[in-house]
Amino acid sequence: MDKVFLTGITGLVGSAFVVASLRDHEPRHFVCLVRHGGGMTAEERVDKIIRDECVFDGCPELADFVLKHISVIDGDVVTIDPEELARHPLMQGVNKIFHCAADVNLGKDPTGKVFRINFNGTENIVALAKLLKIAEFHYVATAYVAGKLVGTAYERQATDNGFNNPYEESKFKAENLVRACGIPYTIYRPAIITGRRSDGRIRKPLAFYRILEFLGKLKSHHCKKNGVSPVEWYNMQINFSATPSEHVYFVPIDYVQEAVTELFELPATNQTYHVTGNSPITTRQIEDTVCDVLRLDGVSVGTDCKGANQDGELMRRFIGDLFPYFSSDIIFDQTNITNALGKEFVNRKYGTEGLETLIRAFYRDYFPNVEWLQTLANTPIEREHHRN
Ligand SMILES: NC(=O)c1ccc[n+]([C@@H]2O[C@H](COP(=O)([O-])OP(=O)(O)OC[C@H]3O[C@@H](n4cnc5c(N)ncnc54)[C@H](OP(=O)(O)O)[C@@H]3O)[C@@H](O)[C@H]2O)c1
Repeated sequence: MDKVFLTGITGLVGSAFVVASLRDHEPRHFVCLVRHGGGMTAEERVDKIIRDECVFDGCPELADFVLKHISVIDGDVVTIDPEELARHPLMQGVNKIFHCAADVNLGKDPTGKVFRINFNGTENIVALAKLLKIAEFHYVATAYVAGKLVGTAYERQATDNGFNNPYEESKFKAENLVRACGIPYTIYRPAIITGRRSDGRIRKPLAFYRILEFLGKLKSHHCKKNGVSPVEWYNMQINFSATPSEHVYFVPIDYVQEAVTELFELPATNQTYHVTGNSPITTRQIEDTVCDVLRLDGVSVGTDCKGANQDGELMRRFIGDLFPYFSSDIIFDQTNITNALGKEFVNRKYGTEGLETLIRAFYRDYFPNVEWLQTLANTPIEREHHRN
């Protein structure tokens, strides 16, 4: 039986992978490195997250089975001593590593925390892998190791194209550590992870969801100030300073879960996979759909508008780190993942419908007490309204 050392089980991807792997494949044992926190031990956190994930995946009855196949070691990827960890009794017999832990903060990194976790943390896990003489190293990178590339990114070692933030650079450098470690590896590169296809829901909304939260709050604030109902259309007069892109890769969490779980079953042969899906959407589609659901007029995307009003400043401060992903002009080649999982898997459509579903699901799930958002989340788009 495989014994897999895994980091990142409390995260969006790690928890989804472990549950699907134990649900869909031969039992294996996971030894997980987890931080304690929030008044909970590392074990308590894993217990809660696995139960939540099983409920989310529609298999709550599986939680005890999954938890039986997990052991927890309290620790942090940055501060572990690989030699000491390699001697831990639970580590005996580990034959594979799945390294998924990262700091996914896309902002500035004034204290170097993102770099320490993503790069130095990976250095430690690679050192551990060598000490354990494991057979396979699985690493969750990001499609955006491509950084500022314009054009096609291939499923192979990325070149340094300059980066939009320290996160991308740290992941690029960490990926290269894995490539050079001398152990057979598989590299998974997800794009922007969003809600699942069936109902748009997500257990942990990251990145793009901050835009939805921001716009919801901004509309609420404006409407209150002007004494109008936020259920009605409202002219925001706000500009997102980004060059609109034709290639925004939103990838539903269930796609990532299934792809990573299935690819993990293949022997590691130094392959890289773009776990991005093959149906990018456009910045314009996103703008239109968000505004239609939230009933916002006067929202523009473009670098030609001045828009340096107070809201524009707020926006730059709170969500400016996300703008590069709505300007990015990268096409993610799908050759390796198509060869591995087939065209039908990779080419599933996402489109405006998927987008609308995930936006509604987010407001329903994360703002249950905000009446106007609940109303709009449950109201069909008014097709006859022509936004200005
Ligand atoms: N989410 C996306 O859209 C996206 C897109 C592309 C690539 N990825 C990649 O996918 C992987 C998983 O990310 P995610 O989406 O699952 O993010 P997430 O939900 O924020 O999970 C990050 C995980 O890493 C753990 N972690 C962070 N710092 C750690 C440390 N110092 N020591 C030990 N564990 C630590 C977290 O543990 P705590 O619970 O203790 O914080 C958590 O389990 C990452 O490598 C990320 O770069 C994500």
